[in-house]
Amino acid sequence: RLGKPLVVAIDGPSGSGKSSVSREVARRLGLAYLDTGAMYRALTWHCLASGVELDDAVAVEASARALKLEQSTSVEHEFVKVGDLDITEQIREPAISSAVSAVATTLGARTELVRRQREAITHAAKRMVVEGRDITTVVAPTAEVRLLLTASEEARMARRGMQLGGTQTAEQLTSQVLARDAQDSTVVEFQRAADGVVTVDSSDLDFEQTVAVVLRVVLEAVEGK
Ligand code: DC
Repeated sequence: RLGKPLVVAIDGPSGSGKSSVSREVARRLGLAYLDTGAMYRALTWHCLASGVELDDAVAVEASARALKLEQSTSVEHEFVKVGDLDITEQIREPAISSAVSAVATTLGARTELVRRQREAITHAAKRMVVEGRDITTVVAPTAEVRLLLTASEEARMARRGMQLGGTQTAEQLTSQVLARDAQDSTVVEFQRAADGVVTVDSSDLDFEQTVAVVLRVVLEAVEGK
């Protein structure tokens, strides 16, 4: 099985635990890892830093094409760089989180980032966990494993709250995250599983249990082949 293509595509809304679960699954299986949300965040950072208006679709698309993005695909050493600047931390800031949907709903920018994502998968010899919103449907619809990781609204808000260190009120957090998911949903469907996509509901599972369920789905898919 070693060396055979194994693309694990994982989609889901904010706060579904997608990133930490995807990372851990990649680590356990010795696969590369691609956080595609980080690419939308990096592009958003670049647009803001270079004064590009986010509602100018032509300019945002041009920025996407010109973006000098370097992103690690190793779970052991994660980083995101634009040019010489390491922006791994910056892209998690609230200013980016609240602006990123405007970029992610620019179709021309999506086309360019999807192209780069497919390139990254090929570059990793198709042995990669790829995580985002449109991976199971657009980026890698022929992936060996396709998963939608969901969780109830309550569970997702609780997790997001922990991630942000509780600096925002629960109401601020809830409205921000729901608004972002609603806006993102206008261009990508990640609330319902597409045909052939396995749904994993993590509402009542802790981190380890969720990882175990995902690993089981991967093993079943590999052994069933
Ligand atoms: O998963 P995240 O919060 O880092 O994602 C950041 C933004 O990018 C979010 O608004 C959804 C969007 N996104 C997307 O549209 N498609 C992807 N494949 C990944 C993220």
